[in-house]
Amino acid sequence: MSRLPNRRIVLGVAGGIAAYKAADLVRRLRDRDFEVRVVMTAAAREFVAPLTFQALSSNPVHCALLDEQAEAGMGHIELARWADLVLVAPATANVLARLACGFADDLLTTVCLATTAPLVLAPAMNRQMWQASATRANVRLLLDRGVAMLGPGEGDQACGDVGPGRMLEPEEIAARTAVRFGGGALEGVEVLVTAGPTREALDPVRFLTNHSTGKMGYAVAAAAEEEGARVSLVSGPTTLPAPPGIDRIEVTSAEEMYAEVMARAARCDIFIAAAAVADYRPARCAEQKIKKGDGPAALDLVRTADIVAGVAAMGDRPFTVGFAAETESLEAHAKDKLRRKGLDMIAANRVGLPDRGFASERNALTVLWGDGGSRELGLAPKAELARSLIGLVAERYRAEHPA
Ligand code: C5P
Repeated sequence: MSRLPNRRIVLGVAGGIAAYKAADLVRRLRDRDFEVRVVMTAAAREFVAPLTFQALSSNPVHCALLDEQAEAGMGHIELARWADLVLVAPATANVLARLACGFADDLLTTVCLATTAPLVLAPAMNRQMWQASATRANVRLLLDRGVAMLGPGEGDQACGDVGPGRMLEPEEIAARTAVRFGGGALEGVEVLVTAGPTREALDPVRFLTNHSTGKMGYAVAAAAEEEGARVSLVSGPTTLPAPPGIDRIEVTSAEEMYAEVMARAARCDIFIAAAAVADYRPARCAEQKIKKGDGPAALDLVRTADIVAGVAAMGDRPFTVGFAAETESLEAHAKDKLRRKGLDMIAANRVGLPDRGFASERNALTVLWGDGGSRELGLAPKAELARSLIGLVAERYRAEHPA
């Protein structure tokens, strides 16, 4: 975990149920040696007592705009100047709307308006409120002004709904905030990631593909970005939104993925091939829809180019990481692939089990690298696993390329 001296964060806490998670966020920011001053809205104080934040931040909590005593201690302008970064977590729909309109009718909105420090928001609200056209317009306006958004994530909500609007977990917010101060494990490193399946067309309406959803590759790309890397993601067809701060290039077939990767591989420092690329494609794509006949049919298939092996064979190649999805003899197959494809590292996962792999939220990985090293990363949510994997990649990459 990166430690950063003397960095000052004003943490704005607005009135949502996720306010209780902001207490944990203070701890995680403090763990990274940030100095934190908390500003609470009146509604936030209905959820969590200021004393909690005072104890965790070791600083008085700021609540009132027009309180003579508070203004004499550290008023809104001093707070705005003190901050190296203003983070609002949770940022409710109401706060987003008031910030978008430039309101300054309480301490939090006034500090946001008065500061020249970067403003980072971690939205948290019910999914309908997040998807409402008023909120969409406010978010667009704030993004256009250079405000950064962390999340929201998707999942179970306090109101019983499931969908987008959950505040990101405190650890992720703290890590992504820390990156803005520099000091991430992959600061200044160019990372190229492939993700998702490919589609190999048979005719204008049919294609060959596999069960990959892209979740693991997207989580790996996001974890690399969290550590300060500049990330490009070449993605096959998925339903996933582009992760914020990442340059996504959308492709359909293995051939397109190969071309987009090769156009970028020489410029990247680390290449992570998490895509489930089709190994075969139809020898021909029919111009018109193939008509069914009475008898059996056969497909004439040809091999696709191996993208990760192609990158690994380049002269001045990036640190190259492959994935291996296996239904049996995991480690033996992965070792063989590591050697045969000339990779620096391989992350192997069992597929075909109900609790992990394709389309699942969780996975487990066996990671192997060149000089016989290995690490087991146990069953965990893909985002968490991706962070552990990126930690290992950064370690091995830095061992070969000391900063
Ligand atoms: O040989 P296999 O397909 O199992 O190897 C898996 C690894 O190779 C993954 O990292 C995958 O992204 C990569 N791969 C590739 N291009 C292909 C086939 C696989 O980059 N055509």
